[in-house]
Amino acid sequence: MIVAAEQKHSVGYYSLLGFEREPFATSPDPDFFYPSQEHDKALTMLLIELRLRRGLSVILGDVGTGKTTMCRKLLHELNQRRDMIFHMILNPHFGSEEQFLIALIQNFSIDIPSRINLRNLDVTDLRDLIEQFLIRQTIEENKTVMLIIDEAQKLDEATLETLRVLLNFETNDHKLIQIVLMGQLELYAKIVNMDNFMDRISFRYTLNPLDVVDTKALIDFRIQRAGYRGYEQLFSDEAVSEIYVQTKGYPRKINMLCHKVLKELVIQDKKTVDRILVQEIIERDMAFDIRRQN
Ligand SMILES: Nc1ncnc2c1ncn2[C@@H]1O[C@H](COP(=O)(O)OP(=O)(O)OP(=O)(O)O)[C@@H](O)[C@H]1O
Ligand SMILES: [Mg+2]
Repeated sequence: MIVAAEQKHSVGYYSLLGFEREPFATSPDPDFFYPSQEHDKALTMLLIELRLRRGLSVILGDVGTGKTTMCRKLLHELNQRRDMIFHMILNPHFGSEEQFLIALIQNFSIDIPSRINLRNLDVTDLRDLIEQFLIRQTIEENKTVMLIIDEAQKLDEATLETLRVLLNFETNDHKLIQIVLMGQLELYAKIVNMDNFMDRISFRYTLNPLDVVDTKALIDFRIQRAGYRGYEQLFSDEAVSEIYVQTKGYPRKINMLCHKVLKELVIQDKKTVDRILVQEIIERDMAFDIRRQN
């Protein structure tokens, strides 16, 4: 009995259920991105905005609504296009404006004469180098240059101010750099009083959690993407409704709950997830939380 249980763990619960890959991993893998109404609308409008080169886009969303996954999907889309030059910052933390500008110069692989040592340049020189690069790429080469910043709620005021300066580089009809900020709701609190930053936002979107229809569709999508070969409907309709009630449609919570439920399915040697199984997992988690608090 113990050997069988151990075997279940070492093989990976998902292969025992008939999957080729783990269906509900927590990584923001673009391959598992389901274009829910919320995500699809945000992404489509964002791509239009980037094409129009309007400057600054801000996407807000509560914890675990899918911002990083959407960033990855965006990169995946941009990678297919030769007329886009982009860089993504995953965790924006810079000691000074100089450091931030040097990081941009390096990450955009901006050519600088070998006699120049970046560390000896002041802020104005560094900004000039970036502006020259943006003019070359945008006006002469007709490319769109983009800076995408995830976890933008961590940006400090000085870096936000630098972004504002970069947005001042423009021609008569478009901005030379496109900036996309993706952040938790605190980002809004940070920028709301910065009038000259708020003024520059050309596209703003708040990602909401999914509705029940998209919750079901996301679960089905991930199951199919993971190469499910079972014959049965893996989650009953009642189980999905319960998952929606318990997670309120937050993608990270949906993922984590589905992951736990499928593991339990293997342990209990069952074939389909029903409402009772979902409730069992929720009650167990609640009991664990209460024990932790005591
Ligand atoms: N559209 C989607 N399709 C499929 N899975 C998704 C989708 N959006 C999010 N997920 C899944 O939900 C989980 C959380 O997503 P993600 O990390 O992108 O959220 P986040 O908004 O960046 O969270 P945080 O605020 O903590 O940074 C990930 O496992 C991801 O795979
Ligand atoms: Mg994230």
